[in-house]
Amino acid sequence: MPFRIAPSILAADFLHLEKDIDLVNRCGDVIHLDVMDGTLVPNISFGFSVIDQISKVAKAPMDVHLMVVHPERWFKKVADDGVQMCSFHLEASGRRTSSFLKEIRALGMKAGVAVNPDVPVEKLFPYIGKADYFLIMSVFAGFGGQKFIYESLDRVATLKSELVKRKSDAFIEIDGGINLSTVKAVKEAGVDLAVAGSSVFGAADPAEAIKSLREA
Ligand code: DX5
Ligand code: ZN
Repeated sequence: MPFRIAPSILAADFLHLEKDIDLVNRCGDVIHLDVMDGTLVPNISFGFSVIDQISKVAKAPMDVHLMVVHPERWFKKVADDGVQMCSFHLEASGRRTSSFLKEIRALGMKAGVAVNPDVPVEKLFPYIGKADYFLIMSVFAGFGGQKFIYESLDRVATLKSELVKRKSDAFIEIDGGINLSTVKAVKEAGVDLAVAGSSVFGAADPAEAIKSLREA
């Protein structure tokens, strides 16, 4: 699978969202959409009224990252918006993780499990074969613009080698602090899809920024 970039709309220009979605349609690979509830994570982002609107102009696949305590309440809604990838946090799903993954797949989406940097990556192993992808947070979920946590590279490598060992074709997404100084290392560690918010939308030329990240 080629290395792909998912610009995070959290860092986009909310007054001119269509312009930024269009940029991702043209230059990005995936549109990353962060939904936060202020409880699982200490911030609130945007909800489904915004995603409904985005879905009308999205051409690139949409990737919804649910940072909420009851993700299962929203799977159907997310699917109805035509979203292709939907992830929730292991910290929120606990023992219901397998059934949540099943529900997401039954709705026709790729199902992902996300973990914060303080969750041992081995906790994801039981879901190999049940998840289509794993989202490794390389900052604590909640805010854009944080510094990349370098221990994330070992977490990715550990997960990657387990996926290879078990002949799984699940892919690895990473989220947080991805920029030109960190992207090469994450790619080498085994990441397939890198989320990038501030390093894309904060750049003078976001299209060029996406291209440089992808080719790093
Ligand atoms: C943080 C979000 C990220 C965020 C990444 O909780 O999940 O998707 O937008 O932002 P950067 O790329 O600025 O670290
Ligand atoms: Zn995210």
